[in-house]
Amino acid sequence: MRKKIIAGNWKMNLNPEEAMCILERSKMFPAESLPNTEIMFAVPALYAMMAENSLRETPHSVLVQDVSFQDDGAFTGEISVNMVKASGLQGALVAHSERREYHNENNISAGKKIKKLLDVDLVAVYCIGEKLESRKNKEEKQIVKTQLTEALSGFEVRNFDRLVIAYEPVWAIGTGEVATVEQISEMHHFIREELSKLFGAENAEKIRILYGGSMKPENALEIIQIQDVDGGLIGGASLKFDDFKSIILSSI
Ligand code: PGA
Repeated sequence: MRKKIIAGNWKMNLNPEEAMCILERSKMFPAESLPNTEIMFAVPALYAMMAENSLRETPHSVLVQDVSFQDDGAFTGEISVNMVKASGLQGALVAHSERREYHNENNISAGKKIKKLLDVDLVAVYCIGEKLESRKNKEEKQIVKTQLTEALSGFEVRNFDRLVIAYEPVWAIGTGEVATVEQISEMHHFIREELSKLFGAENAEKIRILYGGSMKPENALEIIQIQDVDGGLIGGASLKFDDFKSIILSSI
């Protein structure tokens, strides 16, 4: 059975005190309270070591929000997968739609980052999803298929537990607009089918597929119960611990 993942994506939010407060409060969920759920925090890089120190004795994971596909060298402002690993963090988000929109991230660069992360046994949360215009033109499946095949073809995955897909329709991110149960269900099923074409059905069954886009306490339970939804990537609602806590509780 696939364990659920509830991952907070803090983006460029929270001051250090607010961040610490959320991390400390998340300790109310010890391992035995969450037999089937993993909690992850994708934090600003500057807070990653603080978060790792705070959560070291807990089962919760700390991710960075982006990583370089270069090994090391003159790449000002970048972080390598080896730095992430050596700092005791568990992985990274890859190709969040805001990285695609503002930082020229594409499926090819995303694929290189995913390979690097998986090669050193870190978690890669690969973010995909269509824009509103593509949905209106009924092109959403083609877009998602291309995002999957361009990034994930051409290398072997050893541990499918560590490859996580986050389906985030761009029109639902930070807008308050949530995809319908039918839209989510159809797309997650489609993604699982495409993953089976890439990796075989047995391996595709091991990959967690998260939903993201205006997930909040009021809709979390309904979304998490959809078949092929293995948890959520949560932006706005991860910034208030009480909201994040309710979403975690919906996954149990
Ligand atoms: P949101 O963001 O929950 O605020 O819509 C989700 C995300 O961008 O990962």
